[in-house]
Amino acid sequence: MERTFVMFKPDCLERGLLGRIFSRFEEKGLRLVAMKMLRVTPALARQHYAEHVEKPFYPSLEEFITAAPVVATVFEGPEVIRVVREMLGATSGLKAAAGTIRGDYSASRQMNLVHASDSTESATREIGIYFKKEDLLDWDPSLACWLQAPSEA
Ligand code: CMP
Repeated sequence: MERTFVMFKPDCLERGLLGRIFSRFEEKGLRLVAMKMLRVTPALARQHYAEHVEKPFYPSLEEFITAAPVVATVFEGPEVIRVVREMLGATSGLKAAAGTIRGDYSASRQMNLVHASDSTESATREIGIYFKKEDLLDWDPSLACWLQAPSEA
């Protein structure tokens, strides 16, 4: 089992798409283990997007990500880091394949609705930025036995 950090960005909330997009994660059978709504501050944005701070698009990214609340979550599942990245599609909604979340709902490089960790290292780092250990809930949904065989978990 892996865990990944998934953040529903300001455009997702402002456009009223949170429920519709969040339901894709539920329908896929990914297990929600943490969730909170917050406003990203400029300092938090710099920490989260540390690798992009020096890039030309960073000022615009910071303005965007701090402009309205976000919903930060952690999902758990087998190979969930890769699975979620594939559900999102390419970074730019203009390039993301139809059928992916960005391909279906975004027409922007920046306003691409959802962020997800791209590796185990970034998942650990990003989960640690937004959540304390005790915020991550271990639980077994009753339907888990219909989502994977015991040997796959
Ligand atoms: P995300 O997956 O959250 O990772 C970094 C974010 O920066 C990305 O999604 C976009 O929101 C944004 N981003 C990446 N590349 C560009 C770009 N060239 N111009 C503007 N924003 C970008």
